[in-house]
Amino acid sequence: MKIAVVGTGYVGLVTGTCLAETGNEVICVDINKEKVEKMRAGELPIYEPGLEQLFHRNIKQDRLHFTANLAEAIEEAKIIFLALPTPPGGDGAADLSYVLGAAADIAKIIKEYKVIVTKSTVPVGTADKVRAVMAKETSIEFAVVSNPEFLREGVAVEDFMKPDRVVVGTTDERARKLMSELYGPYVRQGNPVIFMDERSSELTKYAANSFLATKISFMNEIANMCELVGADVDMVRRGIGADARIGKRFLFAGIGYGGSCFPKDVQALAKSAEQNEYDFKILNAVMDVNEIQKKVLVQKVKKYFNNDLNGKHFALWGLAFKPETDDIREAPALYIIDELLQAGATITAHDPEAMPNIKALLGDKIKYVESAYEALPKADALLIVTEWSVFRNPDFDRLTRDLKSKVIFDGRNLYDLDKMIDLGFYYNSIGRKIVM
Ligand code: UDX
Repeated sequence: MKIAVVGTGYVGLVTGTCLAETGNEVICVDINKEKVEKMRAGELPIYEPGLEQLFHRNIKQDRLHFTANLAEAIEEAKIIFLALPTPPGGDGAADLSYVLGAAADIAKIIKEYKVIVTKSTVPVGTADKVRAVMAKETSIEFAVVSNPEFLREGVAVEDFMKPDRVVVGTTDERARKLMSELYGPYVRQGNPVIFMDERSSELTKYAANSFLATKISFMNEIANMCELVGADVDMVRRGIGADARIGKRFLFAGIGYGGSCFPKDVQALAKSAEQNEYDFKILNAVMDVNEIQKKVLVQKVKKYFNNDLNGKHFALWGLAFKPETDDIREAPALYIIDELLQAGATITAHDPEAMPNIKALLGDKIKYVESAYEALPKADALLIVTEWSVFRNPDFDRLTRDLKSKVIFDGRNLYDLDKMIDLGFYYNSIGRKIVM
């Protein structure tokens, strides 16, 4: 099938590449000509495990193309995906100007029936808005479909190729058939393509992310309780996760959720509730808890050093908001760095992928090193901020030797408490006893 993808950000590129992988002919379009040129030359602008191989293969096999010309992209496409940014506007509601602008432009060009799919996370009612904007510009028949993405950064290719489910919101029979045909190869193992109306589909995305964020904030509060009553959040997690109704996944306490989706989506759903004069109490609490949780690690550090971080030096492992990505949007590391610097401390940091992004943002406010161990010398403590696999089983002899003091603050609960007792570290993690 011929497909166009408008917007070559994270979602657009993964979507376009993965759609090409099952034999579709895909043209991705972006207004940024320079970016288009680079992609044509085989340069992938984002880091995502597994994507590069598929990207090159499909370009080579002539199924994946790039253009800066919208008309060229959509001319032959039966389905047009909109994968454009929907940043939070000044009032916290998603800003739809990119999506609606592109929809209007598309409507001016189309000459035959097309299916327009909103892939970006958009507020309930956006499909109707897209339809209205397009109807003003054209008398050609078209369908507007909501098809939210559920891609986790770091495993986005796998999530796209083998989704737990695909949600498609449409009441147009022709569009339903085309979408069903398009996603058939991805759900061979029996996972469902769930068809519903547009509004339910739009809300499904917000509900999914908000529910997951709620799970995390809930566990973070349990962790805080654990510290107060002398319990261990990892034990509690295992104890409750064994109940199939609760489930094992997404129960890890930490230093708050970050990334480009959860903070934005929870906020957008809360805003939408407010606009509908509904007081969504749980969501407000989820956001409040997350703000508090971002501060937990720094508070522990401050307490340990009697509130005086002036002249202290810290080694920081992990900058990305989670492992296997270079994404630092809403990363807890940003808050932690800011607080430590303000308190007069200095920082040497290492992250396997995110250092260029942090450098672009913070410049030489902190020092960067190419290996985790290089960050240790002269450090009064090591702070673990992102749970990259390489940090999970370090050479503790080197930590003992190179750190100025054997002190670790772990925001991700990577190490076994008994092991830390044996090794003689001061070890302060989340929702567990402090080892000293
Ligand atoms: C998320 C959703 O998972 C995905 O379905 C959606 O389409 C986009 O948003 P992503 O932002 O890539 O994906 O990150 P995810 O892996 O879901 O993690 C989100 C945040 O939650 C991270 O900051 C992570 O550290 C935190 N988290 C996750 C926890 O603190 N504890 C957990 O148990 C799980």
